Amino acid sequence: MSRRLLFGVASAANQIEGAYNLNGKGLSTADILPGAKDRSHYIFKPQEMVETRFDYYPSHKAVDYYHHFQEDIKLFSELGLTCYRMSIAWSRIFPNGDDEKANEEGLKFYDRVFDECLKHGIEPVVTLSHFEVPLNLVTKYNGWSDKRLISIFGKYCKTVFNRYKDKVKYWITFNEVNSVTKLHFHSGATIPKAGENLEQLGYQLLHNQAVASSLANKLCHEICPYAKIGCMVQYSPVYPYSSHPEDVLESNHFERDRELFALDLFVKGRYPFYSKRLFSEKNISLDITTEELELLSSYPSDFISFSYYMSLSYGRKEIVAEKTNGNIFSGLKNPHLKSTEWGWQIDPIGLRIALNKLYELYEVPLFIVENGIGVKEQLENNTVHDLYRIDFLQQHINQMLEAVEDGVDVIGYCIWSGTDLISNSTGEMTKRYGLVYIDVDDLGHGSFSRYKKDSFYWYKNFITDYYKKEL
Ligand code: BG6
Repeated sequence: MSRRLLFGVASAANQIEGAYNLNGKGLSTADILPGAKDRSHYIFKPQEMVETRFDYYPSHKAVDYYHHFQEDIKLFSELGLTCYRMSIAWSRIFPNGDDEKANEEGLKFYDRVFDECLKHGIEPVVTLSHFEVPLNLVTKYNGWSDKRLISIFGKYCKTVFNRYKDKVKYWITFNEVNSVTKLHFHSGATIPKAGENLEQLGYQLLHNQAVASSLANKLCHEICPYAKIGCMVQYSPVYPYSSHPEDVLESNHFERDRELFALDLFVKGRYPFYSKRLFSEKNISLDITTEELELLSSYPSDFISFSYYMSLSYGRKEIVAEKTNGNIFSGLKNPHLKSTEWGWQIDPIGLRIALNKLYELYEVPLFIVENGIGVKEQLENNTVHDLYRIDFLQQHINQMLEAVEDGVDVIGYCIWSGTDLISNSTGEMTKRYGLVYIDVDDLGHGSFSRYKKDSFYWYKNFITDYYKKEL
């Protein structure tokens, strides 16, 4: 018999909270990211980004959830949500990352947030590191390239597990952890050195985070015996551009190297069989110890959580075809799919394919912790008639329910996002994802008032009907 699904919404601390320096919070890597065009320009030039002063930093105010969390969680309760995926800002708890003592004010803030959720019957699903690391860990250690981060992260995990063990049942270690092979600074808090083998660096960061994740799994099971802890990846099934055998081969390799490789480490607890050849072809040699390999195999993830926004298409290098944008990874344009304004290809059936494939390969419960559509929207008469979003979400949920019928074990589904928030890739508010509109623009101007969109009422009705049928 299939389990009762959790339905929720998702967010990340640096994209909603604001209050970047209040009550003892330290600066994080997310707090030095500029907005709009500057973000895409500097994202792969971290050294320059660190040295440049920008006029505006989106995370500093974000959508001021820090002062609106009760109002927002009340809206989530009105929706009938049974879970809420959010993240803890590590630098609210340990302002410098390696502080001896935790910041009590930061701990209290999340106590209040979790209590508010539980009061409304909403299960918190908590990411420990969602694209942010205390900035001091960059300056002092160069981030996740230094293995000392593993025990520093372990201490942070221990602190929050002990503090929230009676409040949180679902933990997630690193957001979209497979992105670290490419986004060394954004996901790995590391500034590459001149002339460094970037592919080697990426896989070393992934290794170090995998070990840290296993350590977190171990600590979580010791401290919170009733909790489950999972890994999180960005996953898009990669289709061959054509039935040409080389397109099939290339698309398989693309998906394996960028997405499944990480899952083998985190879920199977070992390096995939193809890693030897991959590393030798890329001239990669990693620093891996026997103890680390033992930790990986002894403490794998309890579940896989993933973001699903699109499928990708890929093939031979010589194919001349239009390229598409994507969430971290991009591919070739699939002529059968429409795209969003940001060029992300819309593919609801891809979600059913993704769920079936991941379950077939890993046989652990799956949690869709992000799915949604970013759109330019205007407030009209205090609302937004976002029928396109309703259509997008309805179709994706239908495909998820088909996968459940197929026999896939799904824990739940979270819409990205409950309220509008700062876009991760562009740093803009203009790319709106929420069921609730927030009156704030790309430069942080606005009243910060909240307005329900049509999709809010649609999701509320959907959830009510779903649980009625389940009774
Ligand atoms: C995922 C991230 O990549 O996609 C989120 O986990 C992000 O942080 C979401 O916001 C949507 O991407 P974007 O770039 O449109 O905000």
